[in-house]
Amino acid sequence: MAAMTAPRPAEATGGGPQPRSAGLIVLGIETSCDETSAAVVMRDAAGCGRILSNIVRSQWEQHRPFGGVVPEIAARAHVECLDQLIEEAMRTAGLSFAELDAIAATAGPGLIGGLMVGLVTAKTMALVHAKPLLAINHLEAHALTVGLTDGLAPPYLLLLVSGGHTQLLTVEAVGKYHRIGSTIDDALGEAFDKTAKLLGLPMPGGPAVEKMASKGDQHRFALPRPMLGRAEPHFSFAGLKTAVRHAALGIAPLSETDVADLCASFQAAVAESVIDRTRRAMEMHATKIAPLPARHIVVAGGVAANLALREALTGLAAEQGYEFHAPPLNLCGDNAAMIAWTGAERLAAGGIDGLNAPVRPRWPLDATAQPALGAGAKGAKA
Ligand code: KG4
Ligand code: ZN
Repeated sequence: MAAMTAPRPAEATGGGPQPRSAGLIVLGIETSCDETSAAVVMRDAAGCGRILSNIVRSQWEQHRPFGGVVPEIAARAHVECLDQLIEEAMRTAGLSFAELDAIAATAGPGLIGGLMVGLVTAKTMALVHAKPLLAINHLEAHALTVGLTDGLAPPYLLLLVSGGHTQLLTVEAVGKYHRIGSTIDDALGEAFDKTAKLLGLPMPGGPAVEKMASKGDQHRFALPRPMLGRAEPHFSFAGLKTAVRHAALGIAPLSETDVADLCASFQAAVAESVIDRTRRAMEMHATKIAPLPARHIVVAGGVAANLALREALTGLAAEQGYEFHAPPLNLCGDNAAMIAWTGAERLAAGGIDGLNAPVRPRWPLDATAQPALGAGAKGAKA
């Protein structure tokens, strides 16, 4: 692979990156974790996006017996269905490969086996069909999804909450991200998943906890509100998850009502902590990210599908004079439409990657960000 160079589109020849002003159609591929997805997205000359197809296949049935995502099973499952999903995405969009302007695939962060499946597939198609390749950062794709769904352009404040990451960032421009807060231990999605597991709920844990929480009493268990009032807008969820474990052990065996009350109490603690941390970020960065009257707060990533969290953030936005944005529920979790869109955004700005683009299992959005004080190894990579 190292010796190959990507075919370049006619517009990009003759020097450095050149912005493209015409409409663009990009095929996207997502294989970084436990969803296999292929999508086709169009970006018109005015910068507006339209999803022509977005096929997502979850691997949860394969992972469920093991209580979590098994990397080898994930990689194999991607291999088994990716070709078929790409074909379906192209058929649904009603396009031939010749009509594509580029092929984009997630290159990181994520599980190395899955990333290789997606990126090598994209490289092969780019080579065979003589199309530009875009190696996409999965976190950037979550960050930019609101551009596709709401037409929202930077600058905005972003709360990125997924299975592997929990961060507050200022999105200053496409490609320019400044991290101002992160978790010092577990990611929020991870905390939902671990809480679900210890309460005997099925994976993926976030939706299961949310469903049980809707039937529970959030005031029954007095759980901690991690990091409340701290000066820096960092997060911590490991202690909260342990507090749930102790509360559960104290009343075992658990009835369904006990589980519902524990879920509701956990979710309320999460929401209060996240709101406090996000408010802090707004206070710190109101002037920096919002030189214009319009201020925007965006939530993205798998946990952004949590309705209690969305409601709490809507309230916070109103209180602070911000406009609240979140992708529709089906585009919060992992999907290839966001990868294709990010590819189109980068291509429009003149960005193209070589066929030697590496997979990057660790790939921070803000490479200059220092680990949050008190962060362990996980916090350092988040
Ligand atoms: O972004 P995503 O699909 O994958 C990663 O990039 O990590 O996020 C997956 C995470 C999982 O931890 C899942 O439990 C969580 O998002 N999640 C939720 C909800 N839906 C998915 N967490 C809380 N409430 C939900 N409704
Ligand atoms: Zn994700």
